[in-house]
Amino acid sequence: MKILITGTSGRLGGALKRCYEPRHEIIAPSHAELDLARPDDLEVILNGLQFDLLIHCAGMVHPDACERDPLAAMQVNAESPAQLAAFCHQRGVQMIHISTDYVFDSDEASPLDEAALTQPINAYGRSKLAGEQAVLAASSNALVARVSWLFGGHLPSFPEQMIKTALSGHEVAAIADKWSVPTSVDDVADWLEQLMIQCPTASGILHVCNSGQATWHEYAETTLQLAHELGLICNVPMVKRQALDGFAGFLAKRARYTVMSNERLAGWIGRVPRTWQEALKESLAKAC
Ligand SMILES: NC(=O)c1ccc[n+]([C@@H]2O[C@H](COP(=O)([O-])OP(=O)(O)OC[C@H]3O[C@@H](n4cnc5c(N)ncnc54)[C@H](OP(=O)(O)O)[C@@H]3O)[C@@H](O)[C@H]2O)c1
Repeated sequence: MKILITGTSGRLGGALKRCYEPRHEIIAPSHAELDLARPDDLEVILNGLQFDLLIHCAGMVHPDACERDPLAAMQVNAESPAQLAAFCHQRGVQMIHISTDYVFDSDEASPLDEAALTQPINAYGRSKLAGEQAVLAASSNALVARVSWLFGGHLPSFPEQMIKTALSGHEVAAIADKWSVPTSVDDVADWLEQLMIQCPTASGILHVCNSGQATWHEYAETTLQLAHELGLICNVPMVKRQALDGFAGFLAKRARYTVMSNERLAGWIGRVPRTWQEALKESLAKAC
């Protein structure tokens, strides 16, 4: 397959590229070559490329940056994906559009399925939800894959930050009343490839995450415990509990409960995704 992947300098796009390269032909335009801040230029650029599938990972992904410039967020996360989807639809090419659990902010305490009420509470979530809607309106064949709390790949993420803080001897602290599903980029790559092969016409919305759920505090504790078992740190520090309300470190509001159910994914790939703890252990072991 010839797969066009956007955002390959980033965590997820980079992981997909590395995973698929041995078996597929990958086209990976850089940010400068395919700039989502210039939606009107996209069609001309895409016209010069030959591909069977587009996996669209690039975007404005930092909630605080989106909060500072919501118009740019809408352009990059909604207007440009709509252009990409319209192009794919016209060409008869499949598109997988990567979205986020930040389209939610639920009062529920049970995992949210694909039909659950969306309720973004910051500019990032609103722009990503607008992107999902615009992509599906432009192409009924597109698949919107919502992912959450990604770890792994070539860039440091939450687990590496926790380990680095522990190694520095500074206090480790994490928010204990905000829930989602940590998810391995390598697992996302596997599941999406399986979908391409087994369900090439899969469309609509799909929650793509590992099994289980966690607060950032539980995620930090598990990371440090596993890092200790793997010999990455000498002892396991206590993780101080922080509260989301009144947390001074964020400009954009953060959703409290965005745990997604992966039942549809399990049905489509024919197995229950492994837990985030199993995937995290494997990811940390690679760093040893
Ligand atoms: N990371 C998470 O925990 C998480 C959670 C939920 C959903 N997601 C979604 O997953 C997808 C991938 O996220 P990620 O973690 O891989 O993000 P990332 O590591 O920050 O990578 C973002 C990518 O987008 C590119 N990009 C940014 N602005 C662009 C523009 N105007 N034009 C073209 N390319 C641009 C970046 O290129 P440069 O670096 O070269 O600027 C980079 O390759 C996103 O759709 C995000 O919303 C991520």
